[in-house]
Amino acid sequence: RDDLPDIRRKDIERHKDASTGVWMTYRDGVYDVTDFVAEHPGNKKILLAAGGAVDGFWDFYAIHHTPHVYRQLEELRIGNLHPEDAAQTPASNGSSSKAFSHEPRRAPVLQVHSARPFNAEPPSELLVDDFITPTTLFFVRNHLPVPAMVDSVTVDGVGVHRPVNMSVSEMKTRFEVITVTTAMQCAGNRRREMDDFRSVKGLQWGSAAIGNAEWTGVRLSDVLAYAGVREGDIEHVIFQGGDSDAEGTPYEASIPAAIALDPHRDVLLAFEMNGEPLAEDHGAPCRVIVPGFIGARQVKWLRRITASRAVSESHWQRADYKIVPDSFNWAHDDISEVMPIYEYPVQSAICEPANGSSLDADEDTVVVRGYSWSGGGRGILGVDVSVDEGVTWRAARLTQTPQGVGRQWAWTLFDVEAAIPSDRRGGRLDVMCRAVDTAHNSQPGDIAAIWNQRGLLHNACHRVTVHVPE
Ligand code: HEM
Ligand code: MTE
Repeated sequence: RDDLPDIRRKDIERHKDASTGVWMTYRDGVYDVTDFVAEHPGNKKILLAAGGAVDGFWDFYAIHHTPHVYRQLEELRIGNLHPEDAAQTPASNGSSSKAFSHEPRRAPVLQVHSARPFNAEPPSELLVDDFITPTTLFFVRNHLPVPAMVDSVTVDGVGVHRPVNMSVSEMKTRFEVITVTTAMQCAGNRRREMDDFRSVKGLQWGSAAIGNAEWTGVRLSDVLAYAGVREGDIEHVIFQGGDSDAEGTPYEASIPAAIALDPHRDVLLAFEMNGEPLAEDHGAPCRVIVPGFIGARQVKWLRRITASRAVSESHWQRADYKIVPDSFNWAHDDISEVMPIYEYPVQSAICEPANGSSLDADEDTVVVRGYSWSGGGRGILGVDVSVDEGVTWRAARLTQTPQGVGRQWAWTLFDVEAAIPSDRRGGRLDVMCRAVDTAHNSQPGDIAAIWNQRGLLHNACHRVTVHVPE
């Protein structure tokens, strides 16, 4: 950038902490990240690069290599690395190829948001063709590289009288094996729309970071009872994954003990998805399934279960996956005091027609199809669709499977055929949907009411805009 000054490496090295300001470089750019450190979605790790180059760190934390992160980075730019120093910047440190050596082959149909770690979703038009989402179409959300496969889960912690260390085949022989159909939705689903409204930090998910699958495994409540864990002794159950970051810290999350110990909540240690052994991307050989909760608590590549009085210490439990309102001040407020997200609120989205598509010229009607789901086992009472800016709404036909009151874990698909208003010919048509769950919660009308800094739980009324030929 010609409008900015050249800065020498030795000046950058003097800016390492709050007293001097924190500067770092990426390629030939120099950035002042002093005020950004507190709100960095990867927490204090950013300080590892204080006064130096982020390039080598981003080899491993390759989630940064997206246009969205580059744009946010440019907002912090204060200068250009002096050309004489730029020539000496060490490039890649090679950490990436070793860490990512267990990545599986993936279906080319997935739309990739980040290649390393792998994050991808299917095209939304394909998502509602099947009530059970085919595994190859199921979104993948990996915070870290896929780990080497290890077939061993241990149980330890408060009140554990009988420590457990078991393989999947031991689980199958010791406990009842059940199958539960449940949708799983990432808390970041539909983030791109929230970002379009007002910028947020995180991967730019469309509306397909959700899927509905049949999960087979054993009940967590049975395993905890076998280990001797009793209600009253603990408040939380912590799950540790086999994937870990560059410093060796594993992915971890926790759920409240009341949920973990309740057999009616159907929390599973799952080893099959849609009748097949779990795929590598979905947590092979064993993962946690917590029906009705956000995806982040459903730990993949499960290695360790810990009965605990406190929530997990992990970044993803204590600092991420929280609703951070506009008013939250990163310099003064304590993120660990904000409640972690567990249950999903009521959601629905239109998958067909696709946003930005053109309707067929000779059609008088438009077929609208999509999904709806609510967390906590709440079912869907109805989904309404409007093609006239919300003046009138039509009830859609619902496809759902009865699972019992309070245990409606699977999603609902909806479809309706609506007449295209004649004044829309040769112009734009907005199609909107909104769902009501069995607790009579409805989706907010307006993004502004639920906008939050990390772009999580975007469940405001969904709208797609299509072109109507003459
Ligand atoms: C996540 C920006 C430096 C580690 C993120 C995200 C942004 C960001 C926007 C959210 C990404 C997403 O979810 O799409 C930056 C900027 C940096 C910087 C502007 C410096 C100028 C670093 C450094 C490290 C690091 C040096 C490590 C040494 C992480 C981690 C995450 C993250 C661990 C969380 C990833 C996850 O939870 O999936 N960063 N970052 N960042 N960053 Fe950085
Ligand atoms: N478990 C581990 N060990 N590592 C992860 O990165 N991602 C979580 C969760 N479990 C994650 C994890 C998040 S944020 C989501 S949305 C779901 O896994 C996604 O599951 P999927 O990739 O099988 O769709």
